[in-house]
Amino acid sequence: MSSSSRLDDPEESFMTEVENFFNTAPPLKDHSVIEEKLKGFIERNSHASENGVSMKRIVCVTSGGTTVPLEQRCVRYIDNFSSGHRGAASTECFLKAGYAVIYLHRRGTCQPYCRSLPDDPLLECFESVNGSSVQVQQAQAEAVRKAIANHHAALQQGLLQMIGVALRDLGSRAMFYLAAAVSDFYVPWESLAEHKIQSSAGPLDMRLAQVPKMLSVLRKDWAPLAFCISFKLETDSHILLEKASTALKKYNMHAVVANELVTRKEEVTVVTTHGKICIRREAGDDVENPLIELLVQKHTAHIEGNKGTMEGQ
Ligand code: PMT
Repeated sequence: MSSSSRLDDPEESFMTEVENFFNTAPPLKDHSVIEEKLKGFIERNSHASENGVSMKRIVCVTSGGTTVPLEQRCVRYIDNFSSGHRGAASTECFLKAGYAVIYLHRRGTCQPYCRSLPDDPLLECFESVNGSSVQVQQAQAEAVRKAIANHHAALQQGLLQMIGVALRDLGSRAMFYLAAAVSDFYVPWESLAEHKIQSSAGPLDMRLAQVPKMLSVLRKDWAPLAFCISFKLETDSHILLEKASTALKKYNMHAVVANELVTRKEEVTVVTTHGKICIRREAGDDVENPLIELLVQKHTAHIEGNKGTMEGQ
């Protein structure tokens, strides 16, 4: 096929855009080490069985913000607001529900079981006793004890394309929960200045290219049987639900979780082809608890629905 006829077809031209995006990006550091670890994790968890039948479900949670470098030897970057609280809280809920979790985040993102730790600088949480041993300050002791206990309880129970493909064999038992705030714009690697941009050159004029949304590729090619949940964030409540419904159809998601920037910790709306369900946080609880409970029920129905297909035979 000639390159001009590829560009005439919107689907072909989108796939070319995706290929270019990956081909022009610098290679993932430690690619093979990460791939090995990932395979090992999936292997161990997909063989966990109940009555001789492999039952374990695996969810990939993407969480937190993403940065856009402005130089190849990066000194400056564009960032976004996301703390990763949603992803961390959701990971705790998925672990409690018996899922194995692949938590995909950048360094500095909020971590599961650490959300309740005090904001004080780390060293202020401890004190030295008799100059030899170290103990947690009384004021922070309860929060630290709780975080450690939750983390240990979870341990006892048990890079998106790579994860998608690696999870393909798990079929409908795999779930993607895409809560990361992925940048919609970036500067292609070949357009980036190699060295630090000099302010002496005057005001900075820069064109950002659009990042191709990978949601449709994930659904169609990387993990077609997996249960896929994406998020929709807006600051304007008037357009939120409509945008979520459009994303549901456009990317063929199983559900889209709609949230508004200022109320995101109190309220979310789960949009599916069957309707919209608003979930509000109960006092003293996280909104992620009822949200994950609902999504786990929907995932169970999805697995049941696939039993009559090729996958279930
Ligand atoms: O981290 P917190 O501070 O707790 O906040 C949680 C949250 C608000 C970040 C989270 O609840 C949320 O809404 N995450 C998605 C935010 C977002 O980027 O929405 P969007 O409308 O720009 O993107 C829609 C979906 O496409 C998202 O699932 C996103 O992960 C995905 N996406 C986005 C851009 C891109 N290039 N590729 C993608 O796949």
